[in-house]
Amino acid sequence: MKKILVTGGAGYIGIHICLLLLEQEFDVVIVDSLTNSNENSIKRLFDYKNKNFDIKNSTLQFYKGDIRDLEFLRKVFLESRNSGNSIDNVIHLAGLKSVSQSIDFPGKYWEVNVYGTLQILKVMEEFECKNFVFSSSATIYSQMQESPLNENAQISPINPYGKTKATVEEILKDFSKNKKQFWNFISLRYFNPVGAHPSGMFGEDPIGIPNNLFPYICQVGSARRDTLSIFGNNWPTNDGTCIRDYIHIMDLADGHIAALNFLNGEIDKVGSFIAVNLGTGVGTSVLELVEIFEKVNKLKINTHFTSRRLGDKAVVYANPEMAHKVLNWTSKRNIEDMCRDAWNWQLKNPSGY
Ligand SMILES: NC(=O)c1ccc[n+]([C@@H]2O[C@H](COP(=O)([O-])OP(=O)(O)OC[C@H]3O[C@@H](n4cnc5c(N)ncnc54)[C@H](O)[C@@H]3O)[C@@H](O)[C@H]2O)c1
Repeated sequence: MKKILVTGGAGYIGIHICLLLLEQEFDVVIVDSLTNSNENSIKRLFDYKNKNFDIKNSTLQFYKGDIRDLEFLRKVFLESRNSGNSIDNVIHLAGLKSVSQSIDFPGKYWEVNVYGTLQILKVMEEFECKNFVFSSSATIYSQMQESPLNENAQISPINPYGKTKATVEEILKDFSKNKKQFWNFISLRYFNPVGAHPSGMFGEDPIGIPNNLFPYICQVGSARRDTLSIFGNNWPTNDGTCIRDYIHIMDLADGHIAALNFLNGEIDKVGSFIAVNLGTGVGTSVLELVEIFEKVNKLKINTHFTSRRLGDKAVVYANPEMAHKVLNWTSKRNIEDMCRDAWNWQLKNPSGY
């Protein structure tokens, strides 16, 4: 059985990926410092596994620790090796993800996102683990590129967060060219992951004021916040609000299973790097989203317009053809599903985990 290390596995995206991995009978090892997550997500994952007969065959381990700590990472890999079942794939999600914080604390972002990744690569090299899935982001694409964005679009991030992601991709490319080592890299460029597991047991649980639109809408819907600020009503779009490509968190998680299957597939990919968009290819404006959210969940979301945010762009959505071609993956869930599942999570967990 394949054993997958998921760094950042306690976080929003990681926990949904771990759930799917367990369901697909992978053994899972989670490393997370819990700096931006709640240990209860891990407890729920253990509960879910114990109660779900179908996933009893796979194993789950959790290590609390920091990816910058090489000795800690060595211990994690060594324990697996000593158990006779070595870690053979890594899905690397651990990192800091706020664009605005990255402007205020660039050093922290470079240290965690870039130096932290280098430590993971170092330990993988020591333990001869070569398959690596990286969480990249659509924010790395140049503001000048028109949507739909394909993987060949120009890379030119405008904030430290995006720059750390683009830099890691460059590092992975350099490593993949090393003929003495054998690496298989895939970098998944996420668009806007939203929604929650349909059970309502797992979802997005931001610490403090949400940076992202969906948790904010949910908190307005549940009267935890008064009103949703919409940044700009004069963008060159049908209704004047920004258009984005929202992707259901379970589709995104499916994309990671597809990436693992690709890396471990029959075709030998030794020494390879590939970047693949994970988006739906469908753009939805903020006002359309609010309207669908209200309709699906039968409630009212108070909104008001404020000025545009620096660095925003009118329209961003993916060309998802490469994911279809290379990974045999396409998104299956629509905006209605995203709105329903996000609200179900909010109703069942008004204060998060
Ligand atoms: N959510 C998005 O919209 C989005 C979009 C594009 C890319 N991404 C990337 O996907 C990844 C996961 O995002 P998420 O939304 O689940 O974020 P998240 O903050 O919920 O999860 C990240 C996890 O990493 C952990 N972590 C942070 N620093 C760590 C460190 N030094 N050592 C160990 N663990 C550490 C956090 O505690 C958290 O559990 C991130 O790399 C993010 O940049 C996210």
